[in-house]
Parts: sequence; structure tokens; C-alpha cells
Amino acid sequence: MIYAANFKTNHTRKSTELYLNELTDKITGKKSEDRIYIFPPSTALDIYEGVFKIGAQNAYACANGAYTGEIGLEQLDEFDIKTILIGHSERREYMRESQDQVAQKFSFFQEHEFEIIYCIGEPLHIREKGFEAVMQYLLAQFEGIDIGYKNLIVAYEPIWAIGTGRSATIEEISNTHRALKKAINNKPLLYGGSAKPANIKEITTIAGVDGVLVGSASLDASSFAEMILA
Ligand code: 13P
Repeated sequence: MIYAANFKTNHTRKSTELYLNELTDKITGKKSEDRIYIFPPSTALDIYEGVFKIGAQNAYACANGAYTGEIGLEQLDEFDIKTILIGHSERREYMRESQDQVAQKFSFFQEHEFEIIYCIGEPLHIREKGFEAVMQYLLAQFEGIDIGYKNLIVAYEPIWAIGTGRSATIEEISNTHRALKKAINNKPLLYGGSAKPANIKEITTIAGVDGVLVGSASLDASSFAEMILA
């Protein structure tokens, strides 16, 4: 299983270091095949020792240059970071990243052989229209994306389940993952949206779920460790 923690705009450099030490202590008993990813805020990026990979929540599609406020390849290279989240709904919504921009970013980091966790997800009004509308919406988020890319992991995160405490139902996850798996040629597929210790077991036993991308419940090292060991 893949367990990925997206800190979003939480934690500092200092608290990330403490977190990673605590997590490392707590997950010594994890299964050897389990893969752990941590996405701290960019101010906390660094080289850390441990059984996890550190990734960037975002970066600009450039090596370096005049892009005020952004970080590029050069800043990620400094810490050997080769993993990135692209397409998160919060960036699409709040930072107004268009599908074109998302696809451009994807191509750039693909060229540089990054492992990409590519996020897709539908808003509530689309979910309420039914399954066909959901799939149509989700598949449109693959426009311009090379789903044959060898270092691709997809994360399905229904927007209405993010940070709301209300995860999608087992049936919703199951149906959506089954259809998505076909569309992405069986690439690894994570579920995200209110995954937490209380529901991790039932989510990770669903066919077509290869792991989870966790926000709120990953912020506390004990809670995330509990999910990994569940
Ligand atoms: P929550 O786990 O807080 O719902 O967030 C999910 C998410 O957006 C991870 O990228």
C-alpha cells in the first residue's frame, strides 16, 4: 500500500523534523512493501533520513527564472526531491490552475523523470448528477496528461470529501476506482478525502485502491502511523 501525507499549509520546518522522527519511531513495524510519502510545505523541504520519500506539494514548470514566489527544479534538486503532487483540487480551485497549466506542469516534471502523484476529483454538484457525469468530469482531467508515464500514480480525491470528515462511501470509491483503473491502464490509484484511522481498513481493502492520500489525519504523526500500521 501507498500512504501519502499532504500537509498542505500546515507544519513548519521545525515541526516537520519532529514529526518525521516520531513517525520513523512509530512505524518500524510497517510492512516492507508499504511505501510512505510525505509532502511538507516547501519551507520544510530538506534531506531527511527515514523510510519515507519527501515530495513537493507544488513547483513551477521551470528549472529557475523570474517567477516570483515560485520554486522550480533547481530548488528541488538541492534536496534530491524527485516526487511531486500535480493537479490537486485546491490548486485548481484557489490558484486557478487550468487543465492546460496542470498538463504543462505534468509534461515538465515528466521530462525530468519525477514521480508524479496526479490528483483528480469532482465537486459535489457533479457527483449529484450521477456516475456517468462523474466519470466524464474525471476523464476530462486527463486531457494533456500522458497516462502511459511510468512514474505516474493517480490520486482520486472527491472534492466534497476533502477536509469535510465525510469520506466517500465504500460503494462510491469502489465503483469509481474500478472505472478509473481501466482508464489508466491499471496504474497505482490512491483514494483521498477524509481518510483517517477509523476508516483506513475498509478503504484499503477495496479492490482498485492501492493506497491513500491523507490531509487532516496525517498532520499528527501518531494518527498517520496508526493508519500505516492498521
Ligand atoms: P483530507 O484528508 O483532510 O480530507 O484531505 C485530503 C487531501 O486533500 C489530500 O491531498
